[in-house]
Amino acid sequence: MTGLHVGVLGVGRIGSFHTRTLADHGLVDRITIWDPQDQTVAALREQLPIEVAESPDDVLVGSVDAVLICSSSATHAGLLRETIARGVPTFCEKPLATSLPETRVLAAVAEAAGALVTVGFQRRSDPQYRALKEQVERGELGTLYLARLVIGDEAPPPADYLATSGGLFVDQSVHDFDILRYLTGQDIVEVYATGTRLTGAPGFAESDDTDTAVTMLKLSDGTFASLTSSRHSAAGYDVRLELAGSKGVRAVGLTESRANGEVHTPSGGFLTRFAGAYRAEIAGFLDYIRGAGPNPCSVGDAVAALEVAMAATESLRTGSAVRVDTDG
Ligand SMILES: NC(=O)c1ccc[n+]([C@@H]2O[C@H](COP(=O)([O-])OP(=O)(O)OC[C@H]3O[C@@H](n4cnc5c(N)ncnc54)[C@H](O)[C@@H]3O)[C@@H](O)[C@H]2O)c1
Repeated sequence: MTGLHVGVLGVGRIGSFHTRTLADHGLVDRITIWDPQDQTVAALREQLPIEVAESPDDVLVGSVDAVLICSSSATHAGLLRETIARGVPTFCEKPLATSLPETRVLAAVAEAAGALVTVGFQRRSDPQYRALKEQVERGELGTLYLARLVIGDEAPPPADYLATSGGLFVDQSVHDFDILRYLTGQDIVEVYATGTRLTGAPGFAESDDTDTAVTMLKLSDGTFASLTSSRHSAAGYDVRLELAGSKGVRAVGLTESRANGEVHTPSGGFLTRFAGAYRAEIAGFLDYIRGAGPNPCSVGDAVAALEVAMAATESLRTGSAVRVDTDG
């Protein structure tokens, strides 16, 4: 499979990044995009050799070999149903859908159709996390005791984004829950979360959301994990993880030492920190759909991560530990 024609639905922050990756990819020779914002489309068209469709349908009825869904979260489920129905291999940014029941239904529809669907949990394609997974699988850490995770955004998202984001755990921590499952090979079975509002940023109270949280997680083999989450890190975008086992401790994420007691993180936010991972996940998706590699992230993985996020959200609300519901 060469000379691929790929469609991109939604070319905002992440969609334009993925479109650039496609334009640089040796197997892709045609890209058709659609986004309702004319200015966004025009800006990208000036920079890249792309075609612009008249409507999303226009992208799907064409000769596309694959589609990337990178539009606003609330549109994912409807667009994915379309691509599955038309048998078009699809890369869908997280989330698949905005509710857990709809996510489960969509995953079941995709699996029943034998659809090729990859979900955008890019940390799985990051070289540092990949190397750590191999070390875990080779037994270099021995019996896993503990995982410690940190996530801090550069700046809190705007209030209108918060209103439809699903809350801290669904929008932000879902990446942490996914990478924890990926690295350990274990399921997350129980969650206790507590959170508060400290940043003073607008929108959190109105959306009944939290900007600062601590989550404790119990994994299926008995490993414990802790996650501290913040919508504002004065150190910049801060994503860290440490695994401690009977034979070793490994860390990912702090690129610099803690000089003078300060935490240093790479500047530039998620598109800088995970630039290589985003490119690798798209390359992995194209390999997957031409039978040259595994699926970087399945719909089942997306369901599992969201189940944990929903359990954390419930724990925050009730103040009690919550078993992760995998039955629906
Ligand atoms: N995996 C990650 O690390 C990661 C990072 C950023 C964003 N995302 C996800 O990607 C999606 C987009 O996020 P973003 O930050 O790029 O947002 P954005 O607001 O910058 O871009 C979204 C774009 O989608 C367009 N759009 C809206 N409805 C559409 C439709 N029906 N068809 C096509 N385009 C449509 C909008 O006009 C906009 O240009 C979100 O679902 C978000 O959760 C994932």
